[in-house]
This record gives sequence, C-alpha cells and structure tokens, in this order.
Amino acid sequence: MTTSFSFRLIATDGGARRGEVSMPRGTVRTPAFMPVGTGGTVKAMYMDQVRGTGADIILGNTYHLMLRPGAERVARLGGLHELARWPWPILTDSGGFQVMSLSKLRKLTENGVTFRSHIDGAPYEMTPERSIEIQGLLDSDIQMQLDECTALPAKHSEIERAMELSLRWAERCKVAFGDQPGKAMFGIVQGGDDAGLRVRSAQALKVMDLKGYAVGGLAVGEPQPVMLDMLEITCPELPGDKPRYLMGVGTPDDILKSVARGIDMFDCVMPTRAGRHGLAYTRRGKVNLRNARHADDHRPLDEESDCPAARDYSRAYLHHLVRSQEALGAMLLTWNNLAYYQRLMQDIRDAIEAGQFADRAASITEGWARGDI
Ligand code: GUN
Repeated sequence: MTTSFSFRLIATDGGARRGEVSMPRGTVRTPAFMPVGTGGTVKAMYMDQVRGTGADIILGNTYHLMLRPGAERVARLGGLHELARWPWPILTDSGGFQVMSLSKLRKLTENGVTFRSHIDGAPYEMTPERSIEIQGLLDSDIQMQLDECTALPAKHSEIERAMELSLRWAERCKVAFGDQPGKAMFGIVQGGDDAGLRVRSAQALKVMDLKGYAVGGLAVGEPQPVMLDMLEITCPELPGDKPRYLMGVGTPDDILKSVARGIDMFDCVMPTRAGRHGLAYTRRGKVNLRNARHADDHRPLDEESDCPAARDYSRAYLHHLVRSQEALGAMLLTWNNLAYYQRLMQDIRDAIEAGQFADRAASITEGWARGDI
C-alpha cells in the first residue's frame, strides 16, 4: 500500500501507453475508463457491481455535490467514499464545466464564477480556491483545477481568453491544493480547436509541474478528426511521466483513437446514459432494445460476455423492460454497457502490453462494423 500518488509507465506501443496510477486508496490500471458517478451514485448501479465490471476509479462532480447534499455535509458524513460506499479512488471534476452547462444566471469574472443552482435557484460562488476546498471536503483523490471550457465553434479571441484565464486559475488551484502526497491536482489544457493555443496551454501547465494533466474543451461540438488533431498536437507537449486524461470522452471508437494518440484516462456519461435509454453497447456495435425486432428474440445480448446482464437475459425480456419503462431495464443495460466499456479497456491494456495495439484496435473496429449478431 502506497502513501503517495505516483504514475508508472509499464509499456508503450506506438503512441499508446500502458501504465498504473497509484495512490493510497488503490491503483488505476491505464488506459482506464472512469464511470460517471455525478451525485455520489453511478446511476442504476450498485457500487459492488461497478467494481465487478473492472472499474478502478469513478468520477464525482463538485457542482452537483455542492448543491446537494452539500460539500460540508458530505465531509461531516465521512467523505464521499464512505457515504457512497466506494472505498477506491475517486476523481472529481472541478465544477466549471457543469456550471457553464447546467446552472442559471452565470457571471464569470477573473475571481471565479457566480451562478444560481439549477435545482432551487439559490446563489453560489465558485472560485478556484473554493473548488479545491470542496474537492477536499469530498475527500477526492484526484482533483481537477477550475477551468473555463469554450463550446465550439468559437472566435479565436474568445478561446484564447478562456485558455489564459484557465492557466491563471491553474496556478491558484495549485497553491490552494498545496502539498498532499497521497492525492493529486490535475491541470486542464484548453485552447479549443486552435493548435497554437493548445501548445501554449500545455507548455504553461507543464512548467507548473502538476501530478497529471487533462485535455479539456474537446467533444464539445467539433468533428472527431478535429479532436484527434488536437490530441496529436497536445500530447507530445505534455510530460511523458505523468498521466493524461481526456475529459468527457467518449464513444468506444473515440477511446481507441485517443489511446493511439497517448491518452491514459477517460470518463463519459455515454454508457450509463445510453443504458437508461434502451441502448446497449456490444462487440457488434450499438443495439437499440426498443426496436420491435427484439420482441420475440430468445438470445442474450452477448452469450460470450462474463456480465450476467449481457449473458443471462433474453433480448425479448430486455425489450419488454425498456418498453415498459421498468427500472430493471435501465439497471441491466447500464450494467451491460459498463461491463462492455471495461472489457474494451482490458483488451486495450492487454494489446499494448503484447505490442499488438494497432491490430487489436482494427479487429475491434471490424466487429462493430459487422453489426449486430
Ligand atoms: N468535462 C468535459 N470537458 C471538460 C472541460 O473542458 N473541463 C472540465 N472541468 N470538465 C470537462
């Protein structure tokens, strides 16, 4: 058991990296997918099921938890791990991104952002220092700097202003975080779809010598090739001996292509949200269980899966549950989807270690293209 936060590279294969992020609450095998547990729950899942799919770490949200049940209350209740009964690592997003997409009456200044809760309209202020304070109250293992993410398309001057502000906020977060050997505070590269701004952001963050680096401001409306270009430009500017986290991404295809460009960590609502909407991720691509073609189908989603949701329930039953809006439909499909994502990450890790990442990525992609069984 380690007392400090560290990253170790185990193997590389082209641009792809196989590593380990270690901290007192556990080790994260990378490339890693972090299920999203926004408000202290991975929706429609028990924590032991989340763990059972192979997740080493989950994500929590400063924004949601500060509004409800409140950061100070979470601290009084023993912290987020204790409250949610997830004793392993937790990464928390800083709140900036969620304030911009969810809250009302936002006002952004050099000092921070004031906004009103999307739940009851109550006023709040979020500064870089308060974001780090809240993430500390939650007892988060990997904390994110407060940043400003620009939705694309946007004017160059606007992307530049937000990127520069994010750099100043990174400095303030670093000071607020201080010296906590068992935990980490990651900086976030911004710069939209502008290569020059991305490089400037990455270089300035590198000088701050943080314990890890995220790439933000992507998958915000730009086509996939633009996102991949930004990764190709950004990753070489980041230190090789620190973890790299691509925020809010993505589809299984986004993940394969981003791993190839040097990304180590991912989070996305896609598997959990899709599961609540009747969509299943499988080796043969996405399957919409609402579709009438499943109504009399005895076959499971994937008889070779080791996830009971994929292996032991007929498509006909899943179709019925989804059509009847039963809670169990959302539960089983979320379970299937998280199991699929974690299986994908395990395949990716094994392939990198074997020096066969490109071949394996091609055969996984071919499976999706073949279509449903
Ligand atoms: N989640 C997805 N993208 C972003 C981003 O750019 N910043 C933050 N803080 N969270 C994100």
